[in-house]
Amino acid sequence: MPSSSPAPIAISVDVLIIGSGAAGLSLAISLPKHLNIAVLSKLELTEGSTFYAQGGISAVLDKADSVKSHIDDTMNAGAGLCHPTTVKHVVEKGPEAIHWLEEIGVPFTRKDNNDGDSKLHLTREGGHSHRRVAHAADASGRAIETSLLSVAKSQSNISLLDYHIAIDFITSQRLGIEGQNKCLGAYVLDIKSQKIKTFTAQFSVIATGGCSKVYLYTSNPDGSNGDGVAMAWRAGCRIANMEFMQFHPTCLYHPHAKSQLITEAVRGEGGKLRLANGYRFMKDYDPRAELAPRDIVARAIDNEMKKGGLDSVFLDISHRSKAFIIEHFPNVYKNCLKFGYDMAVEPVPVVPAAHYTCGGIMTDLEGRTDIDQLYCIGEAAFTGLHGANRMASNSLLECIVFAKAVNQSIIKYYQANSRSLTLPAWDESRVTDSDELVVISHNWDEVRRFMWDYVGIVRTTKRLQRARNRMKLLLFEIDDYYANFRITSDLIELRNLAIVADLIITSALERKESRGLHYTLDYPETDPELANQDTILEP
Ligand code: FAD
Ligand code: SIN
Repeated sequence: MPSSSPAPIAISVDVLIIGSGAAGLSLAISLPKHLNIAVLSKLELTEGSTFYAQGGISAVLDKADSVKSHIDDTMNAGAGLCHPTTVKHVVEKGPEAIHWLEEIGVPFTRKDNNDGDSKLHLTREGGHSHRRVAHAADASGRAIETSLLSVAKSQSNISLLDYHIAIDFITSQRLGIEGQNKCLGAYVLDIKSQKIKTFTAQFSVIATGGCSKVYLYTSNPDGSNGDGVAMAWRAGCRIANMEFMQFHPTCLYHPHAKSQLITEAVRGEGGKLRLANGYRFMKDYDPRAELAPRDIVARAIDNEMKKGGLDSVFLDISHRSKAFIIEHFPNVYKNCLKFGYDMAVEPVPVVPAAHYTCGGIMTDLEGRTDIDQLYCIGEAAFTGLHGANRMASNSLLECIVFAKAVNQSIIKYYQANSRSLTLPAWDESRVTDSDELVVISHNWDEVRRFMWDYVGIVRTTKRLQRARNRMKLLLFEIDDYYANFRITSDLIELRNLAIVADLIITSALERKESRGLHYTLDYPETDPELANQDTILEP
């Protein structure tokens, strides 16, 4: 359909990477330098979950640890749904990934040995039976993101485009071209100029992060609303295991604190979960107590809060010295202090919040999706690594390992002299400016609130059906709005948020058992028949 806009902007690149977090940037700087690459971020380049990651990145780096043990822990946490080949692939590549990050300048925390040598300091988190989490104090993500970005900025073949939000993929099927469906590029809104650009690319890569923003309370930054998952779904990709949304057990509870995570490494270094009267309740739920996998700890906290009508439980590391706490958790310590809590002398109030999307766009071990020339990496992807519950610090590892795999795949399939089609520009001929922006903000809030209330840590079929009924109405209303009004980034995000919420509800209704992060009072037991059975939604 020809455009009515006077000057369509068309940009042609070899590789279009949507997302500038650990996944997108690791790929961009790994690709051969003769490729012309564009990396998009819908906000500032650093604004994604990666920047906020605290605990670190897991890998077998200690002589007392083993690949087998990391594999076993990951599979245990994943509660019968991890894909063993993927787990083996990622865990085996772990040490190489950490060494690569060190090479590009990530300042991991080190410890001195008696022989004057220095080694990485490894911390521990839930589900890990060994110390195997490399970290940069408690701001590991910031260290990784800024190191990756500084390398990317130094490469002239990479264009880093902030405030550019991808809207939809352009596929051969959408253009009515027969044969295997191929991704040819994407439409992108330049948020500052409000112009829609048409990107043509030999390869497009989704690295848009997770979907936790569908919940009212989340540890994630604002942009984690599942754009990539929704775009891939609309383009024709299968989406798997969306019912497994992970809730982090310990976010600071304070009326004025938005999304303040308190890293699991605090529990790894001895932090205890207590009720207001000091009772250490986790022992009643799991022999591993505070270091049980996240699904167990978050559910236990939820149960204690519901049982006692509590606003929060408490995380207590006050038995450690102030010097130890400040050395290991300088940012968390400062942050809690800002809200009036001194971790060194008192327990800190905490609640669970939506944190990580274990499901996503289905890929193979090369990061390929169901559509030719379209890849997906990072939290947006479903690779089979996390199963029904991701083990802490396995996510950043997955970002790096799969970025390397996509790099190899693109090298394999790249065609130097491929001729690209001229793609049609975005058509705005039938839309007008919205006169009712309140619809967008209202629907944003409504989705996030009922997802929290009806599709949260503990579910029932009735609540899920209630959520589904509301979702149907909202999807209809949002589609209608989308068809009639000029596009804005809020509208793009709302449309995607609603689609992702619907995928979560549909998947949760399909799984008639409790397993890992999906817990329903109507089917409280794990059904052995459903082990190794993913919930796969076909578009
Ligand atoms: P992100 O880092 O989230 O980046 C997404 C990128 O996509 C951003 O650049 C964003 O602007 C861009 N984007 C999204 N949609 C669009 C669009 N439509 N158009 C253009 N750009 C778009 N994991 C660990 O392994 N260890 C940890 O210690 C750890 N701690 C965490 C702490 C916090 C507070 C949080 C929130 C998560 C943590 N995680 C941790 C999880 C981990 O950080 C994420 O899973 C990982 O960083 C995801 O990386 P990513 O590159 O896939 O996405
Ligand atoms: C944390 O530091 O607790 C987060 C780790 C993770 O989500 O992997």
